[in-house]
Amino acid sequence: PTKVSKICCIGAGYVGGPTCAVIALKCPHIQVTIVDLNKSRIDAWNTPDFKLPIYEPGLEDVVRQCRGRNLFFSTDVDKGIQEADLIFVSVNTPTKKSGVGAGFAADLKYVESATRQIAAVATSSKIVVEKSTVPCRTAESMRTILEANSKPNCRFDILSNPEFLAEGTAINDLFKPDRVLIGSLQTEEGKEACEKLKEVYANWVDPTRILTVGLWSSELTKLAANAMLAQRISSINALSAICEATGANIDEVAYSIGFDSRIGPKFLKASVGFGGSCFQKDILNLVYLSESLHLKEVAEYWRQVVEMNEYQKRRFSKRVVDTLFNTITGKNIAVLGFAFKADTGDTRESASITLIRDFLKERANVSIYDPQVPHEQIWQDLEEACGDMGIEEIKSSVTLRPTALDATQCADALVIATEWKEFREGIDWQTVYDGMNKPAFVFDGRLILGLEEAERLRRIGFKVTVIGRGNGM
Ligand code: NAI
Repeated sequence: PTKVSKICCIGAGYVGGPTCAVIALKCPHIQVTIVDLNKSRIDAWNTPDFKLPIYEPGLEDVVRQCRGRNLFFSTDVDKGIQEADLIFVSVNTPTKKSGVGAGFAADLKYVESATRQIAAVATSSKIVVEKSTVPCRTAESMRTILEANSKPNCRFDILSNPEFLAEGTAINDLFKPDRVLIGSLQTEEGKEACEKLKEVYANWVDPTRILTVGLWSSELTKLAANAMLAQRISSINALSAICEATGANIDEVAYSIGFDSRIGPKFLKASVGFGGSCFQKDILNLVYLSESLHLKEVAEYWRQVVEMNEYQKRRFSKRVVDTLFNTITGKNIAVLGFAFKADTGDTRESASITLIRDFLKERANVSIYDPQVPHEQIWQDLEEACGDMGIEEIKSSVTLRPTALDATQCADALVIATEWKEFREGIDWQTVYDGMNKPAFVFDGRLILGLEEAERLRRIGFKVTVIGRGNGM
């Protein structure tokens, strides 16, 4: 069978962009075209000075090496489809906002319209790869759509190839994936298509890390992996509440349980709650799937992982209010970090948004600093989150600042909401203290202050509260 020589990726977002840029880098013999309907996004990918639409360490370097060589970005979706022998569908699959399954099920309208477009314009056979995270059995729907609309002599083979990269470390994750998962129908043709995609990855991934399984297993694995990762966070966050109430220290607990080889040390960091576009969406998706299968107890089990995350965010904003003598009305709160985690400009489901919404509801004044998130994004997120407040009202209580130090001027409290390295290492605490109202409160929602640093801050004069530790720790 012939090898893949032209790849098209539909969707130039956080997943499609980095994954296919890395394929282009590692496979110079393959032409890769990433297409998107969003013109401003494509324009940004094509900017001469590489002002890319997403911030991801190492990404610019990869794009610089390949763009114009064997990596192209375009809004011509039809041409991209026609030329390719393998097509990644990497469009967004957000939670449905209305209709059946609203609030839980994945909205597949983008996947469906991309699939219909493939069927409509393809004039030769294609391997269609589901890269987006989708509910179980979506590949089946895609196949039905493709087969019902295809031209004669066009064969479509569908593969599931979910993406496991994490934002902030995407390039490293793509260079050295823990595993690449490919699901296919267990037919002759299905296995052959699977083999072709496997060959693409084998250009840089150790073959023992390329796992091939059935289509449905592959689809379910992605939801399951995210559910289990999020569950670790919710478990450690649940324990952090016990620590705060007892004098135990969540970092010490996490460190000690992580030594158990059956548990392992990773992903046990307590925080103000997980965010990002995937964890909540994918768990809700799993909950919806379980309910559709009449597995009520299973649905409830996973739903609790999301519940615990909401509780953690609520608990933290309440601790801020309680500590500031039960009222923050009219007080100035500096929020450091708006992205959902460090090393990304992505704000989807960021815990910071929920905290700021809570502070605004208490009629506090909020000043915000984040090193990567564009200001328009912050305004848009706050407007969406604070449904009953208009943007003018929000703007009268919120200011966006160019540095962390600026944000803390005349603040009564400083809240660390994202674990940016510069908050860990680059803050001159004495200067911050001098500029704040007294008593000056610090709330560390990301465990960036160790026991000793917290002590040092207290010696300067700060009142310090750290997630997962009792007052005074
Ligand atoms: P995104 O929203 O950043 O990108 C999706 C892009 O698809 C958008 O630019 C949109 O304009 C484009 N698009 C939608 N319909 C289209 C169509 N018919 N034709 C052409 N372009 C179209 O989303 P993101 O974050 O890249 O996620 C994509 C998928 O990957 C989702 O299913 C997500 O669950 C999954 N995923 C995301 C991860 C992440 O860290 N963001 C990690 C692993 C999986």
